[in-house]
Amino acid sequence: MLNKDFLKMSDLTGDELFELLELAEKLKYERKNGIPHDILKGKTLGMIFEKSSTRTRVSFETGIYQLGGYGLFLSSKETQLGRGEPIRDTARVLSRYLDGIMIRTFAQSDVEELAKYASIPVINALTDYAHPCQVLADLLTIKEHKGGFDGKKMCYIGDGNNMANSLIVGGLLAGMDVAVATPDNYRPDPAVLDYAKNYGSKFTLTSDIYEAATDADALFTDVWSSMGMEAEIEQRKIAFNGYQISNALMAKAKKDAMVQHCLPAHRGEEITEEVFEAHASEIFDEAENRLHAQKAVMATLMK
Ligand code: CP
Ligand code: NVA
Repeated sequence: MLNKDFLKMSDLTGDELFELLELAEKLKYERKNGIPHDILKGKTLGMIFEKSSTRTRVSFETGIYQLGGYGLFLSSKETQLGRGEPIRDTARVLSRYLDGIMIRTFAQSDVEELAKYASIPVINALTDYAHPCQVLADLLTIKEHKGGFDGKKMCYIGDGNNMANSLIVGGLLAGMDVAVATPDNYRPDPAVLDYAKNYGSKFTLTSDIYEAATDADALFTDVWSSMGMEAEIEQRKIAFNGYQISNALMAKAKKDAMVQHCLPAHRGEEITEEVFEAHASEIFDEAENRLHAQKAVMATLMK
C-alpha cells in the first residue's frame, strides 16, 4: 500500500500502480498541450544525491517546478550528511522545512530509516536494491508502445541489480510474464525472488539469455557494473561476457519487440550499438517518461 512514501515497487498494490500510470498519462498530455497543472504550488522537494545522476536530477527538478513547486539539490558532500550527521536527525530537520524528500543513495536501509523518521513523503530515486521511479517510467513506456500489459512478456538480461529487482516486481504487478537471465552468481535479491514465487509460472529465472528472450515483447538490460561497484569492473566484464542484447538475441523475441534501457548505456557490453540505435526512439521515450511518472508520484504523495 502506498502510505506516505514510495521506497520500492512492492509498496504499490496493482490498483495503485495503474492509478499512478493513469495520472502520469494525464500529466504528460497536459504538458504536451500547454495545460498548466500547478498541483504542488508553493511546495518544496529536497533532492539528496549520494551518487551521480543526469536523468533523475533533471527530471525531478524540472518536474517539481512544472507542478508549481521548487526543488533543492542537496549533494551529500555539501550537507552534514557527508560529515556523518545521522540520517534520523537529517530526516527530522528536513521535515521541518520541506514538503517531500527524494533520495539517491547506496543502502536501501538508509532510505527506509529516512522515511521512518521523516514526517513528510520520501521517494527512492535509486538505491543498490531498487529503482522504482525508473520502473514506473518503464511501465508507462510499455503501456504506450504495447497498449497494455496482459499477455505481454518482459525479459531482463544482465545483472540481478536494482533494475532487475524493480522490474521483476513491477512487471508482475502490472500483469506481465517476466523472464530474467543473469549469471548464477549475480541473481536478483532473495526478497524479490520470494515475492515472485507468488506469481508461479509467470516468473522465470535462468542463466540462458536466449531462453529468457524467447517471444518477449519488451527486452531490458542494464550496465554490468552499477554505481558503487567500480572495484569489480574487470571481474564483472568476465562474468557478464555474452549477457548482451544483440540482433541474434532479438531474433528470439517477438518481431515487434521493444527494447528499453534505463541509461546510461555501455554499447558493446550489455547492448550492441546496432540494437541501441534501432530502438533509440523507445529508449528516449523511456527517459522522457521519468519526468511524467515522477510528477505523478510527487502529485500523489505531496499534495
Ligand atoms: N536512469 C537513471 O536513473 O539515470 P541517471 O543516473 O542519469 O539519473
Ligand atoms: N544499475 C544502475 C542504474 C543506473 C541508473 C546503477 O545503479 O548504477
